[in-house]
Order: sequence, then structure tokens, then C-alpha cells
Amino acid sequence: MSAALSLRQIRKSYGAVEALKGIDLDVPQGKVMAICGDNGAGKSTLIRIVSGAQEPSGGELSLDGTKVVFASPHDALVQGIATIYQDLALAPRLSIWENIFMGAELVRRVGPFSVLDKRRMAQDARGYLQRLSVPIDDMERPVERMSGGQRQAVAIARALRWDARVVIMDEPTAALGVKETALVLNLVRKLRDEGRTVILISHNMADVVALADRVAILKSGMKVIERDVAGLDADALAHMVMTGRE
Ligand SMILES: Nc1ncnc2c1ncn2[C@@H]1O[C@H](COP(=O)(O)OP(=O)(O)OP(=O)(O)O)[C@@H](O)[C@H]1O
Ligand SMILES: [Mg+2]
Repeated sequence: MSAALSLRQIRKSYGAVEALKGIDLDVPQGKVMAICGDNGAGKSTLIRIVSGAQEPSGGELSLDGTKVVFASPHDALVQGIATIYQDLALAPRLSIWENIFMGAELVRRVGPFSVLDKRRMAQDARGYLQRLSVPIDDMERPVERMSGGQRQAVAIARALRWDARVVIMDEPTAALGVKETALVLNLVRKLRDEGRTVILISHNMADVVALADRVAILKSGMKVIERDVAGLDADALAHMVMTGRE
């Protein structure tokens, strides 16, 4: 089993607080890996490091076996890691296609000039959403007029636009109802079906059991459990998160 992303002895201190105390983790290529743990366990800190938002205090990251250092989230994105934060970082009043291509618009040449290639961006945007089984025709629709699940789809489409090999999602269903949650779980399956690797931060054990191939459980900045999810139910998993023991 090859690892898309490997962490070796990743540490992070905030002053006297040791948020991560030496995490080793191999995230298998093409699988969904859940990261669970109580409040303050270090999940968000870990994600900020893997997404390039923060530097670790120590340790190494590798992508497909090659050591990497991320200078910024954009740098991580360019190298193949897209992170979808809970607030999604979408611009609500902008259109679907504008959100998907934000900061990396497609242009075409017109004589000596380059102009935005809106038609192609709208076309590609529609294609990404179709790939995610979220068929929407009007790419001019502002994101604020979409459902929570559809907004997740737009955020994921942005990861597809970058052809991200690893997609990190922080609590993607936390604010959603039953129907929207089902939509988002389906989006994650689509990503995996395309051979992408997904890291899923979740407090929702039912989601983890439904989706994840593997789970890592953090406690007080340490990885206390890492195992396959097959054979576990939500109660067993919740118990492991609580006690830190299998
Ligand atoms: N910027 C910061 N400055 C100081 N301490 C921090 C900072 N960010 C996180 N911490 C501390 O690091 C530890 C891990 O926090 P982190 O946010 O990673 O936990 P978490 O697992 O994401 O928790 P939650 O489930 O509540 O989101 C906590 O003790 C937290 O107080
Ligand atoms: Mg957190």
C-alpha cells in the first residue's frame, strides 16, 4: 500500500503548549482517511501544517515519497494538496464559475491582449460539477443562492480545477441537514472513485464509518490509534475516541 502523504515526527508548539507531539502518519493513496479526536486533540493544527497554512516546529512531510516543504496554502495547492475549510472560503455574491477559478482564471489571447475566457471557465465549471453528480446549468448563479451541500460541491470543484491529488476536508457535514449530508458524503466518494486521496476531519462517527477506509485518532497531540475502519460501528469508534484505546 503506497502512501500519498507521509508525516514523520510532526511537532507543533504554541509557546508552552505542545499541540502536536511527534505525529507519524501514512495516508494511503486513493483512500479516505479520517482523523478523529476530542476537542483540542490537535486535528486542526495537523491540517494547518499539511495544508501549508503553518510551519511545523519539527518533523517532515512527504508527497509520494518525496520530501516537501510548503511555504503557503497556495504552494501546497500547486503541489497537489487542496484544503476545504469549514467556512469553504467562497465569495457568496460571486458566480459559481468565478468561485471555482478565483485567483487562477483562464485567459485567452485576442491579438496582443489576454482577456478572461469566461465561456471556457463556465464550461469547465459545469463539467466539474457534473463529474461530482451535481448537475447545475446556470454557472452565473451566485453561490449565496445554493444549498450547503451544493456549496461544498463548488469548493470541491475548485480542488478539481487544481487537479489536487490530496483533498482535505475539515468537518464537511457539521452544519448540514440529513439530505445535504448525504450529498456531501457522495461528493467524497466521487473524489475517491477518481483515485484521489481524501483526508476527512470529523466528529461525526456515522460519517466516518460510512466513508472512511482508515482512521487515525489523536489525543492530546499524539496519535493513539490508527486502523482500518472495516468492522467498526459508530459506537465502537466513539468509544475509542473517548478512551484512546481499542
Ligand atoms: N494559535 C494557537 N495558539 C495557541 N494555542 C493553540 C493555537 N491553536 C491551537 N492551540 C492549542 O493547541 C491544541 C490543539 O488545538 P487544535 O485546534 O488543533 O485541536 P482540534 O483537535 O482541532 O480541536 P477541535 O475539535 O475543538 O477543533 C489545543 O490545546 C489548543 O488550545
Ligand atoms: Mg479543530
